[in-house]
Amino acid sequence: MSEPRTYRPATIAVASGRPPHEPDRPLNEPITMASTYVAGGEVEYGRYGNPTWTAFENALGQLEGGRCLAFASGLATVATILDLVGQDAKVVAPRHAYNGSLLQLADLEARGRLRAVLVDVADTDAVTAACEDAALVWLESPTNPALEVADLPPIVAAAHEAGAFVVVDNTFATPLLQQPLAQDADIVVHSATKFIAGHSDVLLGALATRDDELYAVLKKRRDMIGAVPGAFETWLALRGLRTLHVRLERAQANAQELVRRLERHAAVAEVRYPGFGAIISVVLDQGALAADLLTHKTRLWVHATSLGGVESSFERRRRWKAEPATIPEGLVRMSVGIEDVEDLWDDLAVVLDELTGS
Ligand SMILES: Cc1ncc(COP(=O)(O)O)c(C=O)c1O
Repeated sequence: MSEPRTYRPATIAVASGRPPHEPDRPLNEPITMASTYVAGGEVEYGRYGNPTWTAFENALGQLEGGRCLAFASGLATVATILDLVGQDAKVVAPRHAYNGSLLQLADLEARGRLRAVLVDVADTDAVTAACEDAALVWLESPTNPALEVADLPPIVAAAHEAGAFVVVDNTFATPLLQQPLAQDADIVVHSATKFIAGHSDVLLGALATRDDELYAVLKKRRDMIGAVPGAFETWLALRGLRTLHVRLERAQANAQELVRRLERHAAVAEVRYPGFGAIISVVLDQGALAADLLTHKTRLWVHATSLGGVESSFERRRRWKAEPATIPEGLVRMSVGIEDVEDLWDDLAVVLDELTGS
């Protein structure tokens, strides 16, 4: 039987990054615990490579349609990319984004390394206008936690016209719902801690690019800085990646049903949902107090930061001092898991009904 030349995403998630089908080879790439390798080969030392990283990178790279590099965390990936920007360069970035990425930009700006221009990524005209003289256009789409969506093709075109690189943080959409490299972005970034690994037990970052030169520069920087992942972490993330499509399908279906019900509840002032994915942000009518009550009183929903795990979790984002002041005090970011949606709703409804006295 002849092999199809390219597989569909669900098949790539399951089949890629595996050892060859040969007698007595394991089906999965084993965890290689090695700080050093016998001299004379291509790797030599544990900071330069590891077969378990390679298996993970092959799988995620195929899903994103580029060459992938794994990092110690999402923020290690962000830092490695931002380090490429020249002195005093202009960087266009989202006004709402993961606050750790915004903190890195603010820190670099405060130290005179770059000039950050913050934009609403959903306002395409504003973003394209800001591209002039930029060296880097950093996008997150959808944004965390405001869930704004960027229209990538016109923004990428304007950025390239201005001679800027485009980076897209694809953590919320995953390569199953959005493939920025296919829309001509230069680099895709992931907090693989989230949906990719999917079980709230791993910290890991990754990037992918189609540009071989950029790949080489970024690999060199990762290896030089030592922002490298652990073998066990990449193994766990690859194991998680095997079920990404199944997890996401279920979590997204749950999220869409919850959006319908939340929109009808009197305790909820606003539901933000981009129409896809498993993250919902709700703004509660009675503000921070009501949001805190909700996140503390449910039994099934876990009050926790982070997102993208199989279990449903949520938090009031403004409990973090670093969160932008334009995020409403009563906004609760909900990461919808793969439980039975009726149990998820029942758990929420008890507290929401209490808030409205119904
Ligand atoms: C969109 C986004 N990008 C990057 C990060 C940072 O990733 P990590 O926590 O793996 O360092 C996060 C973490 O929450 C995130 O939500």
